[in-house]
Amino acid sequence: MTVTICADHAEASARASAIVADALRAEPALVLGLPTGRTPVALYASLVAADLDWAKVRTFNLDEFAGLPPRAPGSFRAFMDEHMFSLVNLPPAQVGFLQGDAADEAGECARYEQAIDEAGGLDLLVLGLGANGHIGFNEPGPGLRAGTHAIALHASTRAANADRFGGDPARVPARALTLGMRQVLRARRILMVATGPAKAAAVTALTQGPLTTMCPASWLQVHSDVTLLVDRTAAALLHDAKSD
Ligand code: GLP
Repeated sequence: MTVTICADHAEASARASAIVADALRAEPALVLGLPTGRTPVALYASLVAADLDWAKVRTFNLDEFAGLPPRAPGSFRAFMDEHMFSLVNLPPAQVGFLQGDAADEAGECARYEQAIDEAGGLDLLVLGLGANGHIGFNEPGPGLRAGTHAIALHASTRAANADRFGGDPARVPARALTLGMRQVLRARRILMVATGPAKAAAVTALTQGPLTTMCPASWLQVHSDVTLLVDRTAAALLHDAKSD
C-alpha cells in the first residue's frame, strides 16, 4: 500500500483527481468504481472541471440505501447525479447502480454482481473510509460478506450520513445494499481518500493494524495496488508518519 500524506483535503482531492484523470486518459473505456460521502465531493468537482471524455467509461457505485427509490432525496444516486453524472458526458446507460427499493433485494444484488463481472471487474475503485473502518457499507462485525448484499447500518454510520436526511439520524435508512469484499479486492487498482481527524483511528487500523473483520478496510493490506491519500489530521495517529 502506498500512503501519501497530503497537506490538506484540497491537496488529497487534487491528487486523487489526477490519478483518476490519468487512468481515464490511458483507458477511455475504464470501468470505474465510485464512492459517495463528503470526502469525494471535491474530487468530483475537479473531475467535472477537467477536460475528460466519459463517453466510453462505465461506472459502478459502491452502495445505496435500502428502500429509497432511485433519485429520492438523500439517495446516493441523487448525490452522484448532482455532483458528477449530470455534469459530464457519461451516457446514463453506462452508469451502474444498486436499486435501493428493489422488491427482490437478493436478486438485485445478484444482478449487480453479474453486471460488474460482465464488465470484466473494476479497473479502478475509488473508496472513502468510514470512521469505524467500513468501506462501501461493509460494516465492522464478526464476519464480512464476499458478494453484494444487504446490511443493517451501525448507529454511528447512520449518524455520519444524517446530513443527507435533514441532520436526523432516525431518518437515515436502517439498511443498505453494498458491494462485498470480492469486488472490492478484485478491483485492479484501489484509490482511497481519507481526510479529517475523525478518520485518524481508522487510517491507523487499516494501514498498521491486523487484518480483522472489525476493520473491513484492513483487508486492503492484501491487495497489491492500493494508493491511500490522507491529510495530516487523518495521519495524526500513524506510527512513524512522514509527509510526502
Ligand atoms: C458512507 C459511504 C461510504 C463512505 C463513508 C464515508 O458510509 N457508504 O462509502 O466512504 O460514508 O463518508 P464521508 O466521506 O462523508 O466521511
